[in-house]
Amino acid sequence: MPVEWIPDSRQFHLHNDRVSYVIRVLENGALGHLHFGGRLAAGRLYTHLGPERFAGFSNRLDEPVALEYPTPGSGDFRAAGLTVEHADGSTVLDLRYRSHRIYRGKEDLVGLPSTYVERDDEADSLAVVLADAPSGIEVQLSYTIFHDLPAIARSARLTNAGDTAVSVRCAMSACLDLPDSDWQFLHLSGAWARERHLVARRLAPGRQSVASLRGASGHQHNPFVALARAATTEAGGEAYGFSLIYSGNFLAEVDVDPYETARVRVGINPEGFCWTLAPGAGLDVPEAVLAYTDAGLGDLSETYHRLYRERLARGVWRDRPRPILLNSWEATYFSFTEDRLVEIAGVARDLGIELFVLDDGWFGTRDDDTSSLGDWFVDRRKLPSGLDGLARRIEALGLRFGLWIEPEMVSPRSQLFAEHPDWAVGVPGRQRTESRNQYVLDLSRPEVVEHLFGAIADVLGSAPISYVKWDMNRNITEPFGLALPPERQGEFFHRYLLGVYDLYARLTSAFPDVLFESCAGGGGRFDPGLLAFAPQAWTSDDTDAIERLRIQWGTSLCYPLSSIGAHVSAVPNHQVGRVTPLATRAAVAFFGVLGYELDPTRLTADERMAVADQLAFYKRRRELFQRGRFLRLLSPFGGAGDETAWMTVAADRSAAVVGYYVALNRPNPGPGRLRLRGLDPDARYRISAWPAGRLDQPLERGGDELMRAGLVLSRDRWEAARHGDFRAQLFVLDRV
Ligand code: DGJ
Repeated sequence: MPVEWIPDSRQFHLHNDRVSYVIRVLENGALGHLHFGGRLAAGRLYTHLGPERFAGFSNRLDEPVALEYPTPGSGDFRAAGLTVEHADGSTVLDLRYRSHRIYRGKEDLVGLPSTYVERDDEADSLAVVLADAPSGIEVQLSYTIFHDLPAIARSARLTNAGDTAVSVRCAMSACLDLPDSDWQFLHLSGAWARERHLVARRLAPGRQSVASLRGASGHQHNPFVALARAATTEAGGEAYGFSLIYSGNFLAEVDVDPYETARVRVGINPEGFCWTLAPGAGLDVPEAVLAYTDAGLGDLSETYHRLYRERLARGVWRDRPRPILLNSWEATYFSFTEDRLVEIAGVARDLGIELFVLDDGWFGTRDDDTSSLGDWFVDRRKLPSGLDGLARRIEALGLRFGLWIEPEMVSPRSQLFAEHPDWAVGVPGRQRTESRNQYVLDLSRPEVVEHLFGAIADVLGSAPISYVKWDMNRNITEPFGLALPPERQGEFFHRYLLGVYDLYARLTSAFPDVLFESCAGGGGRFDPGLLAFAPQAWTSDDTDAIERLRIQWGTSLCYPLSSIGAHVSAVPNHQVGRVTPLATRAAVAFFGVLGYELDPTRLTADERMAVADQLAFYKRRRELFQRGRFLRLLSPFGGAGDETAWMTVAADRSAAVVGYYVALNRPNPGPGRLRLRGLDPDARYRISAWPAGRLDQPLERGGDELMRAGLVLSRDRWEAARHGDFRAQLFVLDRV
């Protein structure tokens, strides 16, 4: 059994071929942690890996306590997994084992997105119930081990079985004590237009964290962190990953104590959080996915890619090839007419585009960003035959039609705000802060969610709409839930997210054939919580190919190619003004879900031919680009950052595409070799170049040679002075 229970020593051992997670009911009934990491043999006791009995730092300095869900005031003076304030103001909680249940498969969380199984034989689960006798607080800690992935999903359900209300001030999704702290802390941080840059720093004594307090996971940090040994590379070495399936205020923290152990905590950010748990009430906290590898960061990423692509994303679009879209935003911004859109779509169709997406500006009287959010009815000045008329003209061209919405927002200049000013988040009697001239609707209120479901369902039902881009362009200020009593204001941010998830769940089930793409001013909410509803996300508003190398590299640490929306845009680039070759823009955007974000009517005849060639090339290799095994080869964050390389390999290793990019050209370079990964060492591969160009090596090479000796780049030949900066070369490998 993948979940082993040894009653005499009260030890649980979750294991598959690659990892083990071992915990134990200690003598005093607390749940102690023994091991998470490489696979240990089943049928053995590991109790010596943890303390014999509960003891704190205060009196057993040589024996740090590793509890599965530590609480404050216990002698373990580190930050807690769970902090509950009782009616008398005290926060002491003695969680003791009460029962457990081992079962096949995996259960869903209540109201929250989570990973799932399709068959019970894909995973096994353990639920351990702990209880604090004096207060009646019960905690069910849930663990799922996936059979063919080195990953454990953890979550917690709190129940107040006592007769007095308590306040939950901190309820982490996972808390894990590691026996040493000799790790690099990796996180994905940045800002608008430069999201998810990879940051690595050595752990130091004390607490180090990334977090959000914005009401969204944010452009600034991502709810994914990893720990890697200094010697760990993409291809080898130990690493742990911690990913939180949540889209709001989160905390991912590592606390290094004086004994050089490391406590990792991930969950809802306790800052500002306070949840009243009335007698009989329960609270589910989001799921965290913990992964371990001794085979490098590439393997760690692949664990998350597979799990999130296949068992987090849901619905018919999970497995379907994603259409190549053309988005109108950078083509027209707010200024368009129906005929102009049809003209753009017509050229796009001729080039091979499959889906035309009308972005912002189609509703109310939205000629700029100062009005109309909330007024989800079509602007007949721009679209005289309505969405239906436009969509039918687009469909008549042979394209699908997609639409932009931003349901969580309201403009002060809108009918909705005039009718329901109290629906906008804010504190009565205080000024609301405008951001991008808009307010956030209070989705913690069920009637607001109900209204939005009706309004958006009306839009989606009014025309043949195949795709929705769900945007969210500002974060929450003056957080306050008008419908919540004072003692429940600490619930506002989480209740807002529960409202977002509820709206997503209702719309995706009412329109199961519609492909949803999430967006938040670009990549401001690129997280696993939304991937459960929208299987792809707009990765960043920054479409510059060189910037995108860093953004897509960082994003790929946790997120699969099938989730990464990547577009070719016009030059000079609208975010950085850089002029890059059209082929380079495509060669970067190919690695993900390809789209175009430009006005195709402005392309020259040569450019149109090139784009048509790009589309034909991508369509032939779509499965590889969207669902292949993605391997990072040369980091844009390493060395001078001028070279980047990555590749995608078919599941059966029959084909691969390698992307090699040079940001700034170097004079007189050496003879480069690029060592590939993931190929069949016994196979021979035919190598061709895209765009077709000079290849210095013979057309056939062995997989062993490509991985162990490397692909000869011959940079001195093809990367000579005439090629300039911002170059890209793809190598296409087909098994002979
Ligand atoms: C921000 C998005 O990231 C853009 O792609 C675009 O949809 C604009 N919002 C529209 O307002």
